[in-house]
Amino acid sequence: MQSHAGQPGERRARIRQYLMCRPTYYDVNYSINPWMNPELPTSNSRATAQWERLRAVLRELGHSVEVLEPVPGLPDMVFAANGAIVRGDTAMVARFRHPQRTGESAAYLDWFEARGYTEVVQAECVNEGEGDYLQAGERILAGSGFRSDPESHTEVEKLFQLPVVGLTLVNAQFYHLDTALAVLDDDEVMYYPEAFSAESRAVLQELYPDAILATAADAGVFGLNAVSDGRHVVLPQAAADLAARLRERGFEPIGVEMTELLKAGGSAKCCTLELRR
Ligand code: ARG
Repeated sequence: MQSHAGQPGERRARIRQYLMCRPTYYDVNYSINPWMNPELPTSNSRATAQWERLRAVLRELGHSVEVLEPVPGLPDMVFAANGAIVRGDTAMVARFRHPQRTGESAAYLDWFEARGYTEVVQAECVNEGEGDYLQAGERILAGSGFRSDPESHTEVEKLFQLPVVGLTLVNAQFYHLDTALAVLDDDEVMYYPEAFSAESRAVLQELYPDAILATAADAGVFGLNAVSDGRHVVLPQAAADLAARLRERGFEPIGVEMTELLKAGGSAKCCTLELRR
């Protein structure tokens, strides 16, 4: 059953505003997820070129991109999705699980305060921002199992006054929710079922019976780490099957090369934080 099949023209893009952080100090010199191997070489210039391309693609689509100043000694800061959960004038800044990333929170607190967001708080419980918290219309999907603490769900629910649906991740390769599930539109998602517990799979099946399901191959190149504006879906180039599924549903997939950032366990979506102001 497919309720959204049709020509690309039927899909409406909504203009978005994103926050990104240039990978100036990007490196893989510690390992906090199975993708990160400090023994392998990384190329800072290639990471920067891929990041610049991603930013250019988002801008060409008409979106605006704000840039946060990177901080030396914080090589994962390029993954801006983790910095906060943002909605309206409210920003809940992350509390990272690993000490290697805790220093990033201060930069986000400063940034949101300087921009005049009226409610800027740091999460009390471990909460890795929109890496684990995905806004889908009037609900928030929340991943736990590896990073964000399930205890953080109540805190998020209270601050944003929206129902939070908890989903348990069970495969360490897909340690943040945004590596296993992408929100395409208010009521449409795509995901990789094997990344979730049986209970969570049942919840997703119930909420999104028509969802696009990713193959292991596409999930394995982080094809689900995608940025959608409701019409265009920017996703890793290598996720060919997902691109075809998206096209069938009337979306316009746009492939980007993010191989250098994948060495740290991140891709297109991890590099962007949507500012829903
Ligand atoms: N190396 C980073 C970490 O493990 C990658 C973060 C990826 N971000 C994301 N939103 N999935 O924390």
